Amino acid sequence: MAWKVTVLPGDGIGPEVTDEAVKVLKASGADIEFEFALVGGAAYDASGHPLPEETVEACKRCDAVLMGAVGGPRWDKLEPVTLRPEVGALLPLRRELGLFANLRPAKTMEALVHASPLKDGRNLIDLVVVRELTGGIYFGTPRGRRDDGNTAFDTCVYSRDEVRRIAECGFQIARTRSNRIVSVDKANVLETSRLWREVVEETAGVYQDVSLSHLLVDNCAMQIVRDPSQFDVILTENMFGDILSDIASMATGSLGLLPSASLGSAAGTRTFGLYEPVHGSAPDIAGQGRANPLAMILSAAMMLRHSLDSADHADRIENAVESALCERLRTADIFENDTKLVTTSEMGDAVVAKLV
Ligand code: IPM
Ligand code: MG
Repeated sequence: MAWKVTVLPGDGIGPEVTDEAVKVLKASGADIEFEFALVGGAAYDASGHPLPEETVEACKRCDAVLMGAVGGPRWDKLEPVTLRPEVGALLPLRRELGLFANLRPAKTMEALVHASPLKDGRNLIDLVVVRELTGGIYFGTPRGRRDDGNTAFDTCVYSRDEVRRIAECGFQIARTRSNRIVSVDKANVLETSRLWREVVEETAGVYQDVSLSHLLVDNCAMQIVRDPSQFDVILTENMFGDILSDIASMATGSLGLLPSASLGSAAGTRTFGLYEPVHGSAPDIAGQGRANPLAMILSAAMMLRHSLDSADHADRIENAVESALCERLRTADIFENDTKLVTTSEMGDAVVAKLV
C-alpha cells in the first residue's frame, strides 16, 4: 500500500520549494499518495484561521507531513496573536501532533566547502542539533501575557518526563553516529536547566557507551563559531535549540540547504514526522524562481528515511543533490563566479536528472 503524505505548502517561497520536493519524490519511484492542505497565512486568507481543523485532521491520518514555510508581513500584525502563522499554526501543529524531537543536521556540502563565513570554515561540519520542540518557554503555562502596558512575562516549564524522552532520543542518535553527545543548558542560572542536567545525567547511565559532556549555552554558541567541527550531537531545549541551530546551519555557509525533521517518538524506528526546511518563507523573493529548493528536497529525503522506511530512496535523493551541486548548478542564494545560475524549478529538474 502506498505511503500517505500530507503536503502543507504554506506561504512565501513555501509553495515553490514544495513543488520541487514533490516532483523529486515522484521521480524517485517512492510509492506515495499526496494530499494537499492549507496552513499559515494562506489558510488564514482562505478560512480565517491559520490552522484549520481539516488541516490538522489531514496531518493526523497520514504517515508524514511535508511542510514548506509559513508567515509573512501581511499576517505579522494580526490580533490576537493566535491568528498569526507562527503562533497560530506552526507551534500548535507541533504540539497537536506530539512532535517533541526536532532534528536539525548541519553538514558541509563538499561542493560548498568554501562558503562558510567562518575563518575555519574549511573544517568540515557534520553535526545534528537535537532540539526539544514542544516544551519550555514556547509553551509554558500560564501563557505569556502583558499585565499592563509596561510588564510582560513568559514562563519556562520542563517536566522530568519531557526532558527524559528528548534525552533518550539524543542518546539513540548519538549511537548511530560517533557515540558523543553534548547537552546544552544554562544550569548556572535557570532551575529548568538544573533539572535538565540532572535528567540527562540519569539517562546517560543507560547509555554507558555514549560519552556525555555539558556546555552552557553561551559557551556553546561561542564554540560553534570558533570550531564547529568539534561537535557531533548537540542536545538542547526548545529556545536554545532554535538559536543554536541557526548558528550551526550558517556555519556550513548554506542556510538554504538545511533540512529538518520533527518526530513524535525517538528516532531509530519508523515514526510519524513533519519535515520542513530550516529556512523561513522569504516573502521578499517569493514567486521569482530564486528560492533554493534543496533544503526542502533534503527534508523530503529525511522523511523517506525516518517515516517511510525508504532509506534507499533517501540516499539516492541526497546523492542526486550532491551531484547537481558538483555540476556547479546554483540558485541565487549560493551563486558565485564560475557557477551556473539556475531557477528553483531548474534546480528541481537537475536533481531529478541526477537520480540514479
Ligand atoms: C524555527 C522557527 C520557529 C521557532 C518560529 C517561526 C516560531 O524559528 O522553526 O526555528 O522558533 O521554532
Ligand atoms: Mg528558528
